[in-house]
Amino acid sequence: MAIEVEGLDVALLRSEIQRTYADVSTQPDHEFIFPTGRAWALDLGYPEDLLARVPEASCESFAGVANPFSMGALQPGEDVLDVGSGAGMDSLVAAQMVGASGSVTGIDMTPEMVVKARGSVAEMGLGNVTIVEGSAEHLPFDDACFDVVISNHLLHHLDPAGLTSLLEDSARLANRLVVHNDIELSPAAGTVAVAGKPIDLTAQELRILNYFMHRHGRLISQNELIEHLYPFDEERDPNTIEVYIGRLRRKLGRDVIKTQRGMGYRLG
Ligand SMILES: C[S@@+](CC[C@H](N)C(=O)[O-])C[C@H]1O[C@@H](n2cnc3c(N)ncnc32)[C@H](O)[C@@H]1O
Repeated sequence: MAIEVEGLDVALLRSEIQRTYADVSTQPDHEFIFPTGRAWALDLGYPEDLLARVPEASCESFAGVANPFSMGALQPGEDVLDVGSGAGMDSLVAAQMVGASGSVTGIDMTPEMVVKARGSVAEMGLGNVTIVEGSAEHLPFDDACFDVVISNHLLHHLDPAGLTSLLEDSARLANRLVVHNDIELSPAAGTVAVAGKPIDLTAQELRILNYFMHRHGRLISQNELIEHLYPFDEERDPNTIEVYIGRLRRKLGRDVIKTQRGMGYRLG
């Protein structure tokens, strides 16, 4: 059934997206309005050695917009969910990071992508990588539990309801959503650890850290943080932000949040 969102036919949009990615799968040499292929992945900073082992079929149909592993490598033994796994490049890079004791489950709605990804999994002889055909808006993993959820070039394809559903599912399914260097944040559990050692944060400190970790490397102004923390308050005191940043530095490490004088703060 088509769902109308402010005049947008979501079902039609979805079938157009599917058609485009079917082309990326079956006609990888075609010129698309977005960059594709192995050279593009190298430009994005994917580890060269890991990429070298991924079959060309997956790399030629890679159409991501970023390198999810730039936020930190996955750890051996982790169970990973790759939402929008396409022809499988991200899943197969992830599989090499988590090793035989970990696992990767990829999910994608485009059958042509699924076929290609499964072919590469077989070519690499990996028994711990599963590619599922399905929709990001209705993840079929009720009983599963993943350590990490990755996704590359998918979120902006979703309508608001689909995006909310995926984020809620991810928070429920993932133990560890975001990693920054040696800081581990588990949003669902509301816990933080630095190099494996649990750190006690107040609810407000946790909100600030969560905000930074989802905007890794980006400069965040004091005003943006105030808006985030006190969206409805008339009276906002910038000094409180200074106090929270000071406390986070004391708990997480002095250099974790850097100040850019007069501009704001940056994580990392
Ligand atoms: C840019 S590709 C992903 C790149 C991929 N991770 C790789 O390694 O090549 C985006 C993928 O998301 C899939 N996709 C888009 N919307 C989706 C949805 N609502 N549910 C499931 N898959 C979706 C597309 O079929 C496409 O294969």
